[in-house]
Amino acid sequence: MAPDTPQTDDVRARELHRQLNEAAYQYYVLDQPTLSDSHYDALFRELLAIEQRRPDLITPDSPTQRVGGEAVTTFAPAPHRSPMLSLDNAFSTAELRGWDQRVKRFLGMEAGEVIEYVCEIKMDGLAVSLTYENGFLVRGATRGNGTVGEDITLNIRTVHSVPLRIQPSDTAPPIPALIEIRGEVYLNHTEFATINAENDERGISPFANPRNAAAGSLRQKDPRITAARRLRSTFYTIGHAEGLAVETQYGLLQTFRAWGLPINPYVQRCGDIEQAIQFCEEWDSRRRELPYDMDGVVVKVNSFRFQAALGTVSRSPRWAIAFKYPAQQVKTQVRDIAVQVGRTGILTPIAVLEPVSVAGVVVSRATLHNEDEIRRKDLRIGDWVMVQRAGEVIPEVVEVVKTERTGDENEFHMPDRCPICDQPVVRREGEVATRCVNPRCSAQIREQVIHFASRGAMEIDGLGEKQIDQFLERGLIQDVADLYTLKKEQLLPLERIGDKLADNILNAISASRSRPLSRFLYALGIRFVGERTAELLAQHYGSLERFLQTSPDELETIPEIGPNTAGAIYEFLQDSVNRNLIEKLKSVGVVPTEQQITGGSGLFAGKVVVFTGILTKYSREEAEALVRQQGGKATSNVSKATDYLIAGKDAGSKLARAQQLPIKILTEEEFERMLNAPSEEESK
Ligand code: IVH
Repeated sequence: MAPDTPQTDDVRARELHRQLNEAAYQYYVLDQPTLSDSHYDALFRELLAIEQRRPDLITPDSPTQRVGGEAVTTFAPAPHRSPMLSLDNAFSTAELRGWDQRVKRFLGMEAGEVIEYVCEIKMDGLAVSLTYENGFLVRGATRGNGTVGEDITLNIRTVHSVPLRIQPSDTAPPIPALIEIRGEVYLNHTEFATINAENDERGISPFANPRNAAAGSLRQKDPRITAARRLRSTFYTIGHAEGLAVETQYGLLQTFRAWGLPINPYVQRCGDIEQAIQFCEEWDSRRRELPYDMDGVVVKVNSFRFQAALGTVSRSPRWAIAFKYPAQQVKTQVRDIAVQVGRTGILTPIAVLEPVSVAGVVVSRATLHNEDEIRRKDLRIGDWVMVQRAGEVIPEVVEVVKTERTGDENEFHMPDRCPICDQPVVRREGEVATRCVNPRCSAQIREQVIHFASRGAMEIDGLGEKQIDQFLERGLIQDVADLYTLKKEQLLPLERIGDKLADNILNAISASRSRPLSRFLYALGIRFVGERTAELLAQHYGSLERFLQTSPDELETIPEIGPNTAGAIYEFLQDSVNRNLIEKLKSVGVVPTEQQITGGSGLFAGKVVVFTGILTKYSREEAEALVRQQGGKATSNVSKATDYLIAGKDAGSKLARAQQLPIKILTEEEFERMLNAPSEEESK
């Protein structure tokens, strides 16, 4: 047979799929590479060439199909088939034994009887849910508020250890037609360090910890960025599966492994709680060996029958518990207390410490929050203190070791003038914060410019703290608007800025002129206005002009914006310094792109919803009003524009039509659960 005939392509493409998938599995899941990078690349390019010739051979699970699709502006809501729960914590072995007793009591067992448990590493990443239909990955979602997450399918597809298709196996039960699998996406320490180093080079502020970096990478609007981030994944539970013949948690993990889903290798079956405690104790010392962050041990009742009997209580299952290790505390001395001035002018006292290593990181500063906090701890300069790092990067002073006092320690007093601009500071009635209220204070301007250029705000790549400091020192900028009139000749004399970087910075500044309104509003640095609130404002007002004309009353009508935030926004807009800055930004050509007004915000923001069939808990009018309240539009006909169909009892032709279209279909219960979910993301 001649080469390049259709049949050869066919066979070869299938063979390449197999080889590449196998190699990726060895590499990303088993951590045992079988192919060299160059060999892998050669096979990959061969497959690409075949697929270019023969697009009909491209299948959704082809290794070439991981990165595809364009950047999105928002993630669609992804309702979970069953809620994604949280875990209760145990902070001591006594609490673990207490939990074991409660489990047995609940199951009607004697105190002396034993239960089999499974111990797993608690991964410190981001919970995700994957839906597979007939073995193919069709949806990836974040946890969100536990009931509704965000659809991140395109991004999840770029994670190499996530199979695009799960494989049946002789040693495991058949794969259900529809199955939702849950697990964790995380980053190794080395990848985390690489990402931060790259960001630093590009003048972008670092991520605080691997979990934040994983979350930031997975929620990228552009899947190509996610693809570059070498995320890893591991799976441990099921959200939904019809007719899956598995009876234990341990059996489930083995099944996952047989289907080609990555699982964490450190799992152990334990005959009783004492063995589970041994596992926890062993990992207290071993956790430092792991190349990723571990957030404790999850102890689960092994039997699914028992799990079902135990059920859940207030968003946590009774059948599982997270054992948490106490944060490592280390003793060191406070050399001095420095005062930092932040973007909003708040003065924050910082303990300058004798450097010590805490949980693998050298710590030389710790936040002291505010003056009252220092009084409460009775902390003095020269004191010996215990510091800890509890997952977060910014360490804290836990307590003063009073027995070390010599009498030479000095009390700290908040300065009455700003340490940077020397203007008087104020502490408002009822507030703990001391502030510098001079809008021209260079410390504030510095922090404002850093925030303005940061990721999530105007995202000016290449403009980092080092560059900003030089601009300020040389008087090249007095505020953020001055960035837009910088000239190349002004940049070239600066340290470490060559021809190419100068061009890059100027291009990046220029490109930021037309960021979406939400980013612009976030970049302004209004008190209490984070990315989420900025998005709500942008969706409500649509344009900068409309926003500038708002009133306190209107601000308060926006769902999820409380009186404090509304007050802070209004105060910001009343201030002539801020108004002038916005005008100046406009005059240098900063025109944020208008956003579509979605009729408010909420669960159904910008979505078109149709009801059909008989609802049992609401009248049709009530249900439609609820959708409108949540920012959506209720219509009566199913069309391509429809996003959701809520199908009540005896739904007929509309349901049938919706099934033909890419429309999310919810039952009345699912609709109700969506509405009842708490609106803010629950933090772990
Ligand atoms: S089981 C209902 N197993 O911990 C139980 N969770 O605090 C569902 N997590 O949202 C979770 N490793 O993101 C389970 N081996 C593990 C885990 C794990 C990490 C996370 C997960 C969950 C959170 C709950």
